[in-house]
Amino acid sequence: MRFDIISVFPEFFDVARLSLLGKAQERNLIEIAAHNLRDWTEDVHRTVDDTPAGGGAGMVMRADIWGKAIDDILARNGGVSGGKAVLAIPTPAGTPLTQAQCAQLATDAQHIVIACGRYEGIDARVAEHYTQAGVEVFEYSLGDYVLNGGEVAALALIEAVARLVPGMVGNPESLLEESHSQAGLLEYPVYTRPLSWRELDIPEVLLSGNHRESARWRRDKSLERTAAIRPDMLRRLDTSTLDKKDKRKLASLGYLVSREENRLEPFAIRPAVEADIPALAELSARVFPDACPAYLSEEAIAAHIAENFNEERWAHYLSAPEYLCMVCERENGQLIAYTLCEIPAGDGVAGLNEGAPADVLVGGVERQGPLVLMSKFYIDRPWRSGGIAEALWEHTRLALSERTRDYLAPVVWLGTNEGNKRARNAYKKLGFELVGKREFFVGDESNADVVFARQIHMA
Ligand code: ADE
Repeated sequence: MRFDIISVFPEFFDVARLSLLGKAQERNLIEIAAHNLRDWTEDVHRTVDDTPAGGGAGMVMRADIWGKAIDDILARNGGVSGGKAVLAIPTPAGTPLTQAQCAQLATDAQHIVIACGRYEGIDARVAEHYTQAGVEVFEYSLGDYVLNGGEVAALALIEAVARLVPGMVGNPESLLEESHSQAGLLEYPVYTRPLSWRELDIPEVLLSGNHRESARWRRDKSLERTAAIRPDMLRRLDTSTLDKKDKRKLASLGYLVSREENRLEPFAIRPAVEADIPALAELSARVFPDACPAYLSEEAIAAHIAENFNEERWAHYLSAPEYLCMVCERENGQLIAYTLCEIPAGDGVAGLNEGAPADVLVGGVERQGPLVLMSKFYIDRPWRSGGIAEALWEHTRLALSERTRDYLAPVVWLGTNEGNKRARNAYKKLGFELVGKREFFVGDESNADVVFARQIHMA
């Protein structure tokens, strides 16, 4: 692969003799040559620019000078190994340079001619002409800021492309894991000895020798970093690369896999507001039957829904101070999950007549504070395995913890159908323990429930 740079400051590229680029040239993996644009001028002042047509500040580089230079360079190295030539023009008005484009250039191009503009840029007809002449023209930008000229951007392109040329980097695997490589995520943080430095320790999991746990930790850090710094990358991520643990991690970071489009989208978990009432009534009525055992009649279920999930009841839940309702909302405003809790006054008990485990040790600890009832915890069907439950529970727990902060050991309890294994396992995973049984009426029919409870302040 050959790089020819045309610039009014060819000395700028002396640095290409250093380090990996220098070694690669010595090993004949790549060739880099810098040329002075002024060598193609014919006047005594070696002029390369003129005033902008249409007026304005600054100077524009002349198409005729650039044309002669580029023609010459393309012909001189005409068909380097017979391969494809690309004319790269760094400009803040170009497409932002990506790793994918660099990889493409590293595989496709044999000869990259980089035209470094200065001043207000190069006459636009240069790019137009070479495109028309069948040369691939690649106008790229390093980022949303303005440099004095294209030289820094030219070096950046050379380094990013050259290191992907086979044989350049000692360990090709390091190319795979780094930021912006195929994974589409930012790289995880890295550490080396000393183990402790200025009271900062290397994360223990990396020293454990457990490769699976280390890999998981790194993957989680990649996801966290990308969510925090480059949410745009998450939105473009290929979701087929995500496993269950990735999805759970992403849900904790506020992203879920959109069912319609197989892409990640942000979601919000927040306390419900009045405007949510119609959506909550619809969602709660629709998902309630899913949690009912087969022996309950449709009539009993319908009676329960009519009584408990109408808009009036929801208006009451949202306005009465003893309730806490948290909802999970998609980017498009759709509600896909909710929790409803009843928080008793003082250190009282919510749901005393509904089987509340008032005197039970939870986590081996005596309750000190209120016994909260989580009467509803529902997730709409298509969203049940993507980590929403964990995220919604954690937000609900934090809100409850805030509401019960005056107490040392408040507890939350819930009842779920005895035969609903999926729900029972889910609550266990969320840190609930089985503490008893109760009878729960749906319509007029009795339903055998198991009772779970958990401390509120513990994560
Ligand atoms: N020339 C001036 N600013 C530039 C940028 N941000 N990227 C590429 N080339 C440039």
